Amino acid sequence: MEDKLLTSNDLKVINKWMKKLKEKYYNSKNKRNIARSELKLPYEEIGAGLYRIVFDLKNGFVLKVAVSKTGIKNNKNEAEIYKKFKSSLRSHLAKVIDHGYGWIIMEKVDQKVSQNDENREKVLKLRKKFLRRGMRASDIISSSSKEPKWKNIRYREKDNLIIFIDYGPFRY
Ligand SMILES: Nc1ncnc2c1ncn2[C@@H]1O[C@H](COP(=O)(O)OP(=O)(O)O)[C@@H](O)[C@H]1O
Ligand SMILES: [Mg+2]
Repeated sequence: MEDKLLTSNDLKVINKWMKKLKEKYYNSKNKRNIARSELKLPYEEIGAGLYRIVFDLKNGFVLKVAVSKTGIKNNKNEAEIYKKFKSSLRSHLAKVIDHGYGWIIMEKVDQKVSQNDENREKVLKLRKKFLRRGMRASDIISSSSKEPKWKNIRYREKDNLIIFIDYGPFRY
């Protein structure tokens, strides 16, 4: 078994934030900044999207904490998809290690994908393959510009694969 990834204090801090988010901040405008001041976790922030703040656990994993209702839903969905998606395409999803209410721990995939035609084509093809397996890979290609959403895509060197790091919006 792996070592415990979060301390009991980390869980306490996260739960407290989730409670505040629900009771006070669901309709607030700048939930991300509110979360930044309320969520006193001992980890460095390495990224943030509209729905989640992401911390580096410095052991090869990241912790994503929801800063909105959608973030809670996306964390839950990401965990479910990783568990249930029975296809070889699953190797293109960043591995989920653990999750709980409002949070998820996932392998860290650091390397950005070069924004060139070859990779554009690869991402488009991959999205089509997912669709053929019944999985709609939402938020991977911009519907207006048809450009990949590079922030949600990484490259994993050890197996030479394009990896989706944000598949909370995917639908089976
Ligand atoms: N597995 C990961 N490894 C490394 N960085 C990540 C990982 N997951 C997320 N990040 C960073 O955090 C940012 C926000 O995470 P993301 O899951 O896309 O949140 P949101 O649902 O809010 O868009 C990403 O754009 C990326 O910079
Ligand atoms: Mg994202």
